[in-house]
Parts: sequence; C-alpha cells; structure tokens
Amino acid sequence: MSAVLQTAPLLAPMQAGEIDAVLAIEQQAYPFPWTRANFTDSLAAGYSAWCCRIEGELVGYAVMMLVLDEAHLLNVTVAPDWQRRGYGLLIMGHLFDVARGHGARRMFLEVRPSNAPGQGLYQRLGFGMIGRRRGYYPAGEGREDAVVMALTL
Ligand SMILES: CC(C)(COP(=O)(O)OP(=O)(O)OC[C@H]1O[C@@H](n2cnc3c(N)ncnc32)[C@H](O)[C@@H]1OP(=O)(O)O)[C@@H](O)C(=O)NCCC(=O)NCCS
Repeated sequence: MSAVLQTAPLLAPMQAGEIDAVLAIEQQAYPFPWTRANFTDSLAAGYSAWCCRIEGELVGYAVMMLVLDEAHLLNVTVAPDWQRRGYGLLIMGHLFDVARGHGARRMFLEVRPSNAPGQGLYQRLGFGMIGRRRGYYPAGEGREDAVVMALTL
C-alpha cells in the first residue's frame, strides 16, 4: 500500500526555469537520463509537461505527447527520496485527466523490461502489454528492448 499523501501536492505546467531541478532528479533516477535538450525540445514542441511540487519542493514530473485521440507518455519520474508514497499514481492520474480533456482515448508508453517499478506502476493502473520494440534503449552492454504498453482511457 502507498502511504497516505501528507501534504497537498501541486501539479503545474513545467516551465523552462524548472529544467535545472528536473535534470537533477532525472540524473539520479535513470542510468540513461534524458538530456537538457530532451526537455527543452519537449517544451518547445508544446508537449504536455508537468511538475509536481510539495511545499515548493520538486518531487516529480512528467512529459506526454498528445496527438488526436492518442496520448504517448514520454517520461514520468518521482525523485528517489519521494518514491513509493503515491506520487507516481498521483501524477499519472493527472495525466489521464489532461489526456481525456484533450480527447485522447488511449495512452501508450514504452518501458524497459528491467524496470520493475515502472512496470509495477503501469500494471497497477491497468496498462496492458501490446508489443515489444527490439533494441529500443541504450544499455550497459548493447541495447535493451522496450515493452510497449497501452491503456484505454
Ligand atoms: C516508476 C515511478 C515513477 C513510480 O513512482 P512512485 O511514486 O514510487 O510510485 P507510487 O508510490 O505511486 O506506487 C504506485 C504503485 O506502483 C507500483 N510500484 C511502485 N514502485 C514499485 C517498485 N519499486 N517495485 C514494484 N512496484 C512498484 C506499486 O504497484 C505501487 O503501489 P503500492 O505502493 O501500493 O504497492 C518511480 O519509481 C520512478 O520515478 N522511477 C525512476 C524513473 C522511472 O523508471 N520512470 C518510469 C520510466 S518508464
């Protein structure tokens, strides 16, 4: 069970001025983190990008692409110190609301087969595996496949 959220979190659109703080978490959270350019390009492209703060502290963020009736989750991250307290579910719930509000009917994502927390979160939310992309991710030795998952919103 996730612990009860103790302080009201605030979800707001990601601003360019927040990218330094986002990158600091990104680099702690992933062996192959997104670069600054990945975030600046996402904002420039108008992707749906959100920051979650508790009393001003950045605890997580997400980036999603909305195209017609499809949403594609590109990044969802909770800072290591804040993980397993329900914020991943909270951020995903917010993305579902935003996606539905834009007329999206399905959400897609890729996740590493080795990423147990990511897969656990998505399975808990009802995502199902719909395919696999061979050699999608960089890995320590060679490449790692991606599991492709989808959810009807
Ligand atoms: C994946 C991630 C966003 C989950 O965020 P979180 O705030 O820790 O998740 P929550 O506390 O909301 O957990 C919700 C559910 O997800 C699943 N889950 C979360 N962490 C898990 C873990 N380490 N192992 C297995 N399942 C896990 C559980 O079902 C959990 O429910 P429970 O706590 O009642 O068992 C977080 O671990 C993270 O940022 N990881 C690094 C970045 C990453 O891999 N992002 C996903 C890329 S595809």
